[in-house]
Amino acid sequence: MIIILLGPPGAGKGTQAQKIQNSHGLVQLSTGDMLRAAVAAGTEVGKKAKDFMEAGKLVTDEIVVGIIADRIEEDDCKQGFLLDGFPRTVAQAEALDKMLDQKALILGAVVEMKVDDEALVDRITGRYTCADCNQGYHEVNLKPKVDGVCDNCGSTNFNRRADDNRKTVSSRLETYHAQTAPLLPYYEAKGVLKTVDGMADIDDVSAQIKDVLSALA
Ligand code: AP5
Ligand code: MG
Repeated sequence: MIIILLGPPGAGKGTQAQKIQNSHGLVQLSTGDMLRAAVAAGTEVGKKAKDFMEAGKLVTDEIVVGIIADRIEEDDCKQGFLLDGFPRTVAQAEALDKMLDQKALILGAVVEMKVDDEALVDRITGRYTCADCNQGYHEVNLKPKVDGVCDNCGSTNFNRRADDNRKTVSSRLETYHAQTAPLLPYYEAKGVLKTVDGMADIDDVSAQIKDVLSALA
């Protein structure tokens, strides 16, 4: 099964991708996570991506399409995958269509996570992740069961993203509306767009997504 999670920054793509990865055995492919790893490792891709990311702009299509094309060749993608944050432009969507055609793979659904812009700022500024296993948390909405200890791996080290500040968030939102929102009519025309209410609480959103996936199985 191949699924795309589509939504603005802070919509809950990563949160839901981690849950679906566990419940449905689909590997999460987050271009944001891959680019942050490249920046941290100081690779050529990371050096090219860093300034765009910190400004809340998109990294070039060429870079992200190359990353995904390489990644879906790996063994863990054979049972299907869950795209989180890719595609983000019509050119990326067209490149993905070609990759899937070449492999005779079918896109199951594009799940649009609809969230009001005002809610996104609070979600993003309250977000932090485990430094060791990348499990996501929020200061108010999703705290670890034991304060300061990761539920998943027991680590006590946590990170905040360089682009999770109010100034960059507004630029990321503008970028979403200008460059990524045009993917909604693109996928609607293909009959694969499914919209869920991303304003609901985390478990409710998971249930809505599970219903979408069950209808495909
Ligand atoms: P990326 O890492 O993809 O960031 P993003 O799209 O801005 O999305 P976020 O990761 O911020 O949000 P999310 O939807 O995953 O929300 P989360 O689940 O964490 O990309 C970063 C940058 O990389 C881009 O700006 C760009 O520069 C570059 N890039 C990446 N992909 C690219 C591409 N394809 N092309 C070009 N450039 C690319 O949730 C947020 C918070 O809210 C969490 O704390 C969570 O606990 C909480 N929360 C989640 N769901 C709920 C809920 N239902 N109710 C209440 N709180 C909730
Ligand atoms: Mg994310």
